Order: sequence, then C-alpha cells, then structure tokens
Amino acid sequence: MFEVSDSVLSSFAHPCNVAVIGASGGIGNAFLQVLSDDSAEPKLIAFSRITSPNKKLEWLNSELQLENETSIIEAANFAKKSLGTLSAVYVTTGLLHESDYVRPEKSWRSLDAYALERVLRVNTVGPSLVAKHFLPLLKKDSKSVFACLSARVGSIEDNRLGGWYAYRASKAALNMILKTLSIELARSHPKAICVGLHPGTVDTALSRPFQGNVKPDKLFTPEKSASAMLSVVNRLRQADTGKCFAWNGEVIPY
Ligand SMILES: NC(=O)c1ccc[n+]([C@@H]2O[C@H](COP(=O)([O-])OP(=O)(O)OC[C@H]3O[C@@H](n4cnc5c(N)ncnc54)[C@H](OP(=O)(O)O)[C@@H]3O)[C@@H](O)[C@H]2O)c1
Repeated sequence: MFEVSDSVLSSFAHPCNVAVIGASGGIGNAFLQVLSDDSAEPKLIAFSRITSPNKKLEWLNSELQLENETSIIEAANFAKKSLGTLSAVYVTTGLLHESDYVRPEKSWRSLDAYALERVLRVNTVGPSLVAKHFLPLLKKDSKSVFACLSARVGSIEDNRLGGWYAYRASKAALNMILKTLSIELARSHPKAICVGLHPGTVDTALSRPFQGNVKPDKLFTPEKSASAMLSVVNRLRQADTGKCFAWNGEVIPY
C-alpha cells in the first residue's frame, strides 16, 4: 500500500534533474510542488503551453505546444542546455473535454471525426513526439524514468461500462506507444524505465464536470495523487518498464 516517505527521489542518482511537461495543469503543477519540497533538492524544469513570466517560480519554465513538433524540439534543446541529462520526464498533459465540441461520448451516435482526432492528437500524438525528443536526454548510467499520465479507462481489459470512446482509445493507444518505446529504449538505456501512470480520480479542471458520482474519499487532491505516483515511480525497477501503474502501485492491465 502507498506510504509517504521522506524523499520520492531516493532511488535516483544525484544530481537529480526532472522535467515536467504540462506544468499549468492540476496534476502537473502538483508534481512540481511535491518535487520542489523534496529533500533530494532536484533541479526542475517545467513546460507548459503558456508560461507565466511574472510569477516567481522555483523552477526553470519554458513553453511547449504539444501540437507543434518544432516547439517540442526547442523545449528538449532548452532542457539539455539548462540541465544536461535528465533523471525523469513526466508528461502530465491531457484532454478529456474542450469547448462545446469535445465531450466524452455516451453513445456511438455521438462519435465525431473532429473530436476523435483532437483527443488522439493531444493524448497520443503529443506525448509520442515528446518521447521522440526527450528520451535521448535520459541518463544512461543510472535509473531514469519517462512516464506519461495515462488513465484506467484506457485499459481494454478493464472496460466494462463503455462510452468515452475518444478518450479511452487515446489512452489505450498511448499505452501501446509507451510499451513499444520501452522495448526500444532498453537497447540504448538499459537502466531506463518507461511507464504509464493512472492518477486516480483527481480534483482538476479535467475531471470537474464528471465528479458527480465520485465518493469524497475517492476524489484525490492533485498533491495527494502526485505524491502517490512519485512514490510508486521511486519504487520501480527496470523490470517494471513498459507497464501502466495506478497511484497505489497496482499494475493496470492493458
Ligand atoms: N483528473 C483526473 O481525474 C484524471 C484521471 C485519470 C487520468 N488523468 C490524466 O492526467 C493527466 C493530467 O490531467 P489533469 O487532471 O491535471 O488535467 P488538467 O488540469 O486539465 O491539465 C491538463 C494539462 O494538459 C495541457 N494541455 C492540454 N492540451 C495541450 C496542448 N495541446 N499542448 C500543450 N499542453 C496541453 C494543459 O495546458 P493548458 O493549461 O494550457 O490548457 C494542462 O497543463 C491527463 O493526461 C489526464 O488524462 C486525469
């Protein structure tokens, strides 16, 4: 079971350099808060669509547009120039709903080409391109991690309720990308771990319209979820690469 330990980075060599992509999001911001309070004193670099130059931040901060590969290349170059090699990269971006056009589908009658493509572009294509440009920055001589926020509803085996076609499909495809990356990554980076993470149901803008049936004790604060996932990642070993882990360490079947 999940336990809070002193450091969520104790299994990583020092200096510990961590990139968080999606820093403006509920969970992404919580990752940065938890990491910045960690006793291992990691060097942090945060990427988001829009940066906040006026805010006094404890970490390096730069722009990254998931739908623009040039901006991902520039972000990776900035990370390399600023920190050198990375101990961990967390991709915490994601899309479930947007304006009136992208909503989780209750029925196949709501399937819409624009919404399907939009959700796949943000949840699958974007993180894949982040992997393309950030995986080469991972440390080779000690444990390193590339982790993307996935979701339990991306599990094909676990799908009992139906609905949410685009989001489910985008996360199932993301899981396949992560599994495939893990195989190739092991050849060049034998100590690296590439995984998906399920955060639980977390109180953020993404889940807010769908929290009605969630019991209060099942709705996590972003900080609780981020601490739990970072603790899980801290315990992972190379043999765990290619899997998807829930916030409590449970392996989610594909
Ligand atoms: N919350 C939950 O209950 C829950 C459950 C299961 C899985 N997840 C997963 O956890 C991850 C984080 O979700 P969250 O709850 O923290 O959501 P959130 O608060 O809505 O944050 C989403 C983040 O993704 C970024 N983003 C979206 N589209 C982007 C784009 N095209 N380019 C760059 N950045 C983009 C957003 O940037 P802007 O701020 O610029 O919009 C924001 O930083 C997602 O992958 C989600 O699927 C969440």
